[in-house]
Amino acid sequence: MRVLTLLGIAASLALVPDALAVKEKDFKTCSQSGFCRRGRALAARAKEASSWNSPYSVDASSVAISPDQASVTAGVKSLLYPEVKFELELRVHDDGVVRVRMDEVGGLKKRYDEASSWALIAEPVVSKTVQWTAAKDCIRAVYGPKKELEVVVSYEPLRVALLRNGKAQVQLNGHGLLHMEHFRTKEERKIEETSQEEEQVVLDTTNPRAWFEGDSEDGWWDEKFGGHTDTKPKGPESLSLDISFPFHPVVYGIPQHATTLALPTTLGDDATYTDPFRLHNADVFEYLASSPMSLYGSIPVMYAHSEESTVGVFNAVASETWIDIWHAKPQSSDTHWMSESGILDVFLLPGPTPADVFAQYGRLTGTAAMPAQWSLGYHQCRWNYVSSDDVRMVSRKMDEHDMPMDVIWLDIEYSEEHKYFIWDHKTFPDPVDMTKDVAAVGRKMVVIIDPHLKRTSNYPVYQEATERGLTVRKPNGQDEYEGWCWAGSSSWLDCFNPGSWKWYQDLYLLDRKREDGGWTWAESTEDVHIWNDMNEPAIFNGPEITMPKDMVHYGGWEHRDVHNINGMLFTNQTWQALKARSTPAKRPFVLTRSFYAGSQRWGAMWTGDNLGTWEHMAVGLKMVLANSIGGMPFAGSDVGGFFGNPEPEMLVRWYQLGAFNPFFRAHAHIDTKRREPYLLDEPYRQMLKDILRLRYAQLPIWYTAFHQSAVTGVPILRPHWVMFPKDVNGFALDDQFFVGDSGLLVKPITTPETTEASVYLPAEDQIYYNYFTHLAYRSSKKGKTVTVPAALSEIPLLIRGGSIVPTRERPRRSAPLMKHDPFTLRVALDKAGAAAGTLYLDDGETYAFEQGDFVYRDLAAETKSKVLRISSRDLAASPRLLQVGREVSLDVYSPGNAYAKEIAGVRVERVVVLGAGKPKKVTLGDGGRELVWEFVPGVAAGGKKEGTASVLTIKDPKALIVEDWDIVITL
Ligand code: GLC
Repeated sequence: MRVLTLLGIAASLALVPDALAVKEKDFKTCSQSGFCRRGRALAARAKEASSWNSPYSVDASSVAISPDQASVTAGVKSLLYPEVKFELELRVHDDGVVRVRMDEVGGLKKRYDEASSWALIAEPVVSKTVQWTAAKDCIRAVYGPKKELEVVVSYEPLRVALLRNGKAQVQLNGHGLLHMEHFRTKEERKIEETSQEEEQVVLDTTNPRAWFEGDSEDGWWDEKFGGHTDTKPKGPESLSLDISFPFHPVVYGIPQHATTLALPTTLGDDATYTDPFRLHNADVFEYLASSPMSLYGSIPVMYAHSEESTVGVFNAVASETWIDIWHAKPQSSDTHWMSESGILDVFLLPGPTPADVFAQYGRLTGTAAMPAQWSLGYHQCRWNYVSSDDVRMVSRKMDEHDMPMDVIWLDIEYSEEHKYFIWDHKTFPDPVDMTKDVAAVGRKMVVIIDPHLKRTSNYPVYQEATERGLTVRKPNGQDEYEGWCWAGSSSWLDCFNPGSWKWYQDLYLLDRKREDGGWTWAESTEDVHIWNDMNEPAIFNGPEITMPKDMVHYGGWEHRDVHNINGMLFTNQTWQALKARSTPAKRPFVLTRSFYAGSQRWGAMWTGDNLGTWEHMAVGLKMVLANSIGGMPFAGSDVGGFFGNPEPEMLVRWYQLGAFNPFFRAHAHIDTKRREPYLLDEPYRQMLKDILRLRYAQLPIWYTAFHQSAVTGVPILRPHWVMFPKDVNGFALDDQFFVGDSGLLVKPITTPETTEASVYLPAEDQIYYNYFTHLAYRSSKKGKTVTVPAALSEIPLLIRGGSIVPTRERPRRSAPLMKHDPFTLRVALDKAGAAAGTLYLDDGETYAFEQGDFVYRDLAAETKSKVLRISSRDLAASPRLLQVGREVSLDVYSPGNAYAKEIAGVRVERVVVLGAGKPKKVTLGDGGRELVWEFVPGVAAGGKKEGTASVLTIKDPKALIVEDWDIVITL
């Protein structure tokens, strides 16, 4: 049914894209979600009340410090329910992160406490140096290298604060909104109401319980929405918690939402949105370009920022969560998190720099996996390439037009009746041969595998899953859940069941040698990688297009408890499967639509079904930036827009944007017109070709940035505040960004009929060079906005003075074919005549880099006594690499490693120096071979016009990439 609706609507969309809106009624607002309603009502009452305190307090007599000082535990009770017991636990990790956990103890049921076990890479290492001291009314620990950090747990009311140099950075329950609804029976409430005798300590009201929890059992025992009833066998169990940042005026994070990077407010008279931000993974058809509504993924991490410091919180909760944001004071950010179920398990990230919070979050949930190098190339997708010959044709056409491409994709129509893995042989008679043909020119394929299994007897994958009891169950825990998706009547693999893991992974075994004799995907090769879609999971006839919350997963947990993790578990298994299918293992590529904290370990994400509108193009960039800082940097949005038929101008701009997204894929809905880049008329076709080639030339920059992110957790796309944390003018900037630490600053154009762009240059006295024209812009210590040309063929792309940018400028069909290509170095001098850069290289496809098979160069330029020296040194052997923090196995690295030998002949074929004086002589090494060069003097700035930098081009110095060298320029 939905298929038809979707196709029909999309067809009309092609004509009037703006006339359609998201089906808002398919998704709950806070007021339609019982626990959110209750949470917001509590917050509203608290705000109105003249005086009141949180009813939660620590029982001082119960506070216990573990003998090794690793943790402190304390009993917590609520004055409203003295008989209910909670336990609080705090630990300080060795990097300063504070973990705060609270659970009900001895309750009628158990709260879900496994979200962190899926999100974290390992049990964090607890600090050995922390000393806890208990006082009458609080317990505290002072720690950090200079004892600058302090965590304080106040007993009455219960509050937790993290301080730096005595100043509060993060505070829990400062607004008194903490409430862990304890498990109860339906009868209990009635008894409570008649025997109430609480002190009037908490509130000046005759019925504090009713005041605190509301005076009706609002949505406690069941809830109806959109014709579905959620039976709530466990009753109310929600968790409300306020988290404030008293001195941080801006907050970022909690992807995925179509909104600005600096998160807007949801409470107060001038709130941007009336609803809180929601985290509840959902397939939102035609989502709005500005909304706090849930989208496909959820990462419950938030950063708070000020000129002084950056801090963060990671709230390891997997159930539906709503987050209100307001500013109680102009300098503070205040947030209220309401989750449907689960324990309290919050990590406070002390920062104090952006790099520190990213490393702290990365140590918890892992950094992004090092991708296969080819996956940073261009991906060509549509729903659908209709046959093997269509696939071959697209690959050939790209070659005929000299357009590089690395991957061609197949959407659901490759499969017979949407039984994934099973090729439709009418249209794809020869899948293995087709893949081999694609691979013959250095390309790969990505094929879609969705998590719904068609319930039919002629589908071995479903048959085996159901026979082994590996699917999600109905509330009775016995019967298999059935719902509708692309395949019609389907069931869902339960990836929470460890029994499903090996079974699922073995489906991908290429040698067909399954120990359990099960089915394997014979019609596949090592060059086929995977796209996991619809893994929220999307269920067309389910409540809010997903799985009913009372369905049951392995271990008896309800879907409600684990919903936001569901998609991640499927991609994790796909990733493991691809890794296990070849020896030695090759790096898998897996694209996922749904994600959670930790998904970065299993591949890339994209922003789902965007519309072909300028608004969606613009917000897609903000969403990618949010994912980038949210620890999942391998991100992109459908180039061209999924729905609609973009006019050539829009397509050109979208390719320009896509070429500066970590994940660069064109994709389109089945009802759209074909729009492969070679189909455009001139001059647009040439423009797309130039953009594709620019992306390929810059692959070394992307690969180096991915590597750095994998090692340190820093984002790949870096918003302004990450690069210049003290520059207040840049806190809200989200339409321009830097690429890694390459020094490239880009502002993609996302508006029609544009000829120039305003680019904000950071508050520093620095030269910024136009990448293409070499115009030189000078920023100032106060920050400055400059106008950069942006005709349709132009991308506003600047190089920050002080950067060395390595590129490979020989056009090739695909990224692996560039393996032995020479390099160009763009040396953009700062005003002192200096510059620096890095270049990371490895084989791009195996895990040999973990054994030390890589090349990592430290590039530098320095001007001293009329000599400009450009040098390359082995960064792996220099102390700079050691400073980055996370495990880089330098002990196994040797400069003569196998990969370094393989590229021993690869050289620098051109050095372009921007901003240097005219040389007298250029040599390779001191007194070495004289090099050929050309010098074009700069043009001084005049009036309002920017000047042009001088350009010194050193031709083919034949300096080898793997060797140390100096180019000596006598000025
Ligand atoms: C979903 C995906 C989209 C895909 C379609 C068919 O809508 O988001 O990218 O093309 O399903 O598989």
